Amino acid sequence: MPEDLELDPVGRRDLADAAFNYAEEYLNALPGTPASYPPITPDLISRLAVPPAEEARPLPHLLELLSRALESGIDTSSGKFLSYIPSGGIYSAAIGRLLGAVTNRYTGGTHGAPGLIAIEAGVVRWMCGLFGLPDDSSGILLSGGSVANLTATVAARSRLGDEFAHGVVYTSERAHHSVTKAARIAGVHPNRIRIIAADASLRLDTGLLEKTIAADVAAGLAPMMIAVSAGTTDTGTVDPLAACARIAESIGAWLHVDAAYGGFFVLTERGRARLNGIEMADSITVDAHKSLFMPFGIGGLLVRDESQLVDSLEGRGSYMQDVPEHGREVPNYFAMGPELTRPPRGLEVWLALNLHGVEAFRTELDRMLDLTAWTARVLADLPEIEVIADPELSIVAFRSTAGDGTTRAIARHMNDSGDVHVSSTTVDERFIVRLAFLSQRTTADVARRAVELIREALAG
Ligand SMILES: Cc1ncc(COP(=O)(O)O)c(C=O)c1O
Repeated sequence: MPEDLELDPVGRRDLADAAFNYAEEYLNALPGTPASYPPITPDLISRLAVPPAEEARPLPHLLELLSRALESGIDTSSGKFLSYIPSGGIYSAAIGRLLGAVTNRYTGGTHGAPGLIAIEAGVVRWMCGLFGLPDDSSGILLSGGSVANLTATVAARSRLGDEFAHGVVYTSERAHHSVTKAARIAGVHPNRIRIIAADASLRLDTGLLEKTIAADVAAGLAPMMIAVSAGTTDTGTVDPLAACARIAESIGAWLHVDAAYGGFFVLTERGRARLNGIEMADSITVDAHKSLFMPFGIGGLLVRDESQLVDSLEGRGSYMQDVPEHGREVPNYFAMGPELTRPPRGLEVWLALNLHGVEAFRTELDRMLDLTAWTARVLADLPEIEVIADPELSIVAFRSTAGDGTTRAIARHMNDSGDVHVSSTTVDERFIVRLAFLSQRTTADVARRAVELIREALAG
């Protein structure tokens, strides 16, 4: 490899050929490689965590190191990855990322790449429409759900104005921890973050919410935001969105819906029915790197009233005096989120959506719902297995009625096999195993193998 940083055409072609060959071999081998690897060894850490060399090193050597690095942890690119929230990482979006990086245009403000910003704004408007937000709603693609939840909290804080000193945030005990983290980062006093218990169906208890709000108002506090989940990470449960929206409206609080996991199921008929009420939200967190199968690094925040976002996040240095004002058609994304320089996330999503067509994503999400329904049905028929909450989206959570010890042993048996990887959570102080279906590489065979492993573990 020449040491010159600007590669000539031959250097570019050689590098691309080697990289694409590597990617091909990687993807072709995936069905046969395990879902997870043994713990990383100190020896491998010391080979990987080294300062970069002063002199150029050959690509084959670096790719060899990459392969070693990939042989550790969980293979989140595998269809056998059923733990946490899987991410598809579709190839077409990876190509979009490559093109975005090669063209390296600036999508922070309209002066840089208005064309790419228009592409992103089109994608965001499409997302707003999916959720039934009004025509003048808007949003921004961000790095993920956590940053989107933070950005929403900052907008809600801004709307409260001087009252913020008394502002209270309400969320459910089953909400993703990034919601309370966002409130803390946004400066909400820790004892003004109310964690509302969930009811027996694991949904936020609206009766308790109302009582808590009434007590806070009586004490002179100001309800700032109610943050609900459209698909909890633990069990995929959807909070009572419409009821919470009505409560928020009655007290003038901001309704934020964290739909990072569940959001794009709205593309399907079943998902749309389950997300009923989401159209009443002030803001919605989405994660294209979850239910839109994109590679890690693309989330988003959709807002009913864009001005609330811009009021809280606009800001520019004097060196930006020639940058046009924020506009609706071609927005200044630096005025809508915490980042200034940012990657052209919209390009990746746009390329993938248009290359495959939206219907392909709908079909895939429907397939995830089918795999989930099948798995839940089969597990519910197993003698010692209790399925926790009827799956609403694509997560099956279950436990052994024999107790935590047996449930843990089932999870261990499944993960030791290397044929699937599952993760766990705690519900009502009981150890629960979760199977999450959200990768385009997860086949019916993987679901069948997961069930078989559970049967094997039960048989001892
Ligand atoms: C419901 C929910 N909200 C927020 C997040 C945080 O998203 P990210 O990991 O993209 O920051 C997650 C992540 O799993 C999630 O499941």
